[in-house]
Amino acid sequence: MKHVVAIYPGSFDPPTKGHLDLVARGSRLFHELIVAILRNPDKDPLFSLEERRRMLERLTRRFHNVRIDTFDGLLVDYARQLGAHVLLRGIRAISDYEFELQMALMNRKLEPMLETVFLTAAEDYSYISSRIVKDIARLGGEVHEMVPPLVVERLQFKLNGHKPSQLASKPRAKAKLQRT
Ligand code: PNS
Repeated sequence: MKHVVAIYPGSFDPPTKGHLDLVARGSRLFHELIVAILRNPDKDPLFSLEERRRMLERLTRRFHNVRIDTFDGLLVDYARQLGAHVLLRGIRAISDYEFELQMALMNRKLEPMLETVFLTAAEDYSYISSRIVKDIARLGGEVHEMVPPLVVERLQFKLNGHKPSQLASKPRAKAKLQRT
């Protein structure tokens, strides 16, 4: 069997438990999995590219066949550069399907040798999106069921200016500092 290289592209602003579930499952399916963060100057992300890269590196370091990278331009060009065979995407609900199908068909038109593989989101994570996580966190809601503790901590810091050391002195926040 040939060495199959897959790319899991996305914005990851921030990474969620749904993203990490897909990374875990993708790492079992493919020989190599590259989590590729889009460098998109048009978007106004909450976390900088470097912040997202660092979070993803820490969150995925237990997977030895997974690495984190960034890309810009066309995804198919990036895939060609890497010699990748597969694009991995997650589908949460039927509402994702239309956009994902359009993207997969367009990518196949641009590069017929590149296959898009969809994994259905785990039930527990099918309602999670980075956008919803940011909205809830901005409004002071709990997001620890949706994102790993490292991301809870970074969201607190980003949105409320709490340094991790300040959080550690608060009993309620202390629990959130535990790493997965
Ligand atoms: O996490 P997201 O924001 O849903 O990811 C979207 C992403 C990064 C996969 C998509 O925007 C993308 O591939 N952008 C790169 C530009 C490109 O190739 N566009 C044509 C795809 S049809």
